[in-house]
Amino acid sequence: MKDHLIIFDTTLRDGEQSPGASMTRDEKLRIAKALERLNVDIIEAGFPAASPGDFDAVQAVARGIKDSIVCGLSRALDNDIDRAGAALKDAQRARIHTFIATSPIHMQRKLNMTPAQVIEHAVRAVKRARQFTDDVEFSPEDAGRSEEDFLCRILEAVIDAGATTLNIPDTVGYSIPQQFGATIANLIERIPNSDKAIFSVHCHNDLGLAVANSLAAVMNGARQIECTINGLGERAGNASLEEVVMAVKTRQDVFTCQTRIDTREILTCSKLVSTITGFPVQPNKAIVGANAFAHEAGIHQDGILKSRETYEIMRAEDVGWTANRMVLGKHSGRNAFKNRMVELGFEFNSEEEINKTFMRFKQLADKKHEIFDEDLQALISETTVASEDEQIKLIALKVCSETGEIPTATVTLRFANKELTGCSEGGGVVDASLKAIEKIVQSNAVMALYSVNNITNGTDAQGEVSVRLEKDGRIVTGLGADTDIVIASAKAYINAINKLQIPDQRRHPQQATV
Ligand code: KIV
Ligand code: ZN
Repeated sequence: MKDHLIIFDTTLRDGEQSPGASMTRDEKLRIAKALERLNVDIIEAGFPAASPGDFDAVQAVARGIKDSIVCGLSRALDNDIDRAGAALKDAQRARIHTFIATSPIHMQRKLNMTPAQVIEHAVRAVKRARQFTDDVEFSPEDAGRSEEDFLCRILEAVIDAGATTLNIPDTVGYSIPQQFGATIANLIERIPNSDKAIFSVHCHNDLGLAVANSLAAVMNGARQIECTINGLGERAGNASLEEVVMAVKTRQDVFTCQTRIDTREILTCSKLVSTITGFPVQPNKAIVGANAFAHEAGIHQDGILKSRETYEIMRAEDVGWTANRMVLGKHSGRNAFKNRMVELGFEFNSEEEINKTFMRFKQLADKKHEIFDEDLQALISETTVASEDEQIKLIALKVCSETGEIPTATVTLRFANKELTGCSEGGGVVDASLKAIEKIVQSNAVMALYSVNNITNGTDAQGEVSVRLEKDGRIVTGLGADTDIVIASAKAYINAINKLQIPDQRRHPQQATV
């Protein structure tokens, strides 16, 4: 029997810390359900003390998830731990994850504490967390730049205080695989009570080494990896769940452990996270990129036709890619539609929701002959975003573009319970449309990103547009999909503005650090 490698997903916590990736409570719950279907062992749902919005989201995930352990993050502070305990109260199985920084630079410049004070805080935090649950994780933040002797002292003390998992974060992505692996081996060997806890790692990707460092740690005794879908996370992100899981599965000849992940759910999960956050997946991304299993060179194609194993180390279908992705068409019925949506991980909350989404599907099928999984995924994200309190709705859009003439757009919106129309010129029809919308809503937000992605092939394909807006230090991402790229752009812009209308319940950065 091989050891169990625990997969701790932090898409909803560290992943959400990517600028522009903030998620609403309902979006988090939807992703949490997809993670549960993926069979992740632990879902870190958020940082309850950071804001009322974070608290609500963690509470909703704790109430809605049955099979995975639900975890809340907290600084090593009494109030943080109490908030995490309260948010997790209704979970079937709850974990509190508490952390404090241990590197000289963080202790001196950020915390202004002596090493002895840091140990005292850590021990107190773990003991307090144990009053809420027997499952307590402790992280020495910036462990990648901490002194090994000090790590040994603090980790021994927190195990004595009741910590059951010790997570070693490479917070700034500074480590190198061989050295990080050796650190894990040394800690396990040098800490006298190390057998009483599971060693975990949490690697950031600043040098592109997060997955390599995590796997090196596993080869040296770590039995939990913290990771995120699509590698989302602070700055360059975290170790990507799909890469870690498939590396361990594919190279069972070198790993002495295995995960319990249902890898066939990986692609669905990746797409859901991408559509909800508005962070597209690069085509050449391992496992989940559109080209991950595409063979272009003639010599490769020839080899694949003769024997798949010549160039393929994994089977595309094992991570959720399907050979025939044309699923539905104009004549498909409500039942076929509903079943496929459920297979793609969408949970309908009511008959009314089925009817509404089916109507959108029919409208799309009228414009587009063949409906692919990717089109249905876009419907899912549209339904997800449309379920928010939409204050602004697109009623009509007319554009005019002619060679030698300045493009113009006329837009009608329902805004503040009135129908308002705005017109504008622009560099192109997309620019003119967004300017016309802005004339009506006057958000004064700054556009930080505009990107278009063809959902499927062909000129009748839906375009999926992401718009990232920034206002008063807040960043939101809006999404829109349509066979008409101008309408998709308008929908994405309006979606982002609608998000800006919702009061910011998220943490303020200064509250998020110890
Ligand atoms: O990167 C980090 O150090 C963290 C900790 C809270 C584990 O995210
Ligand atoms: Zn992190």
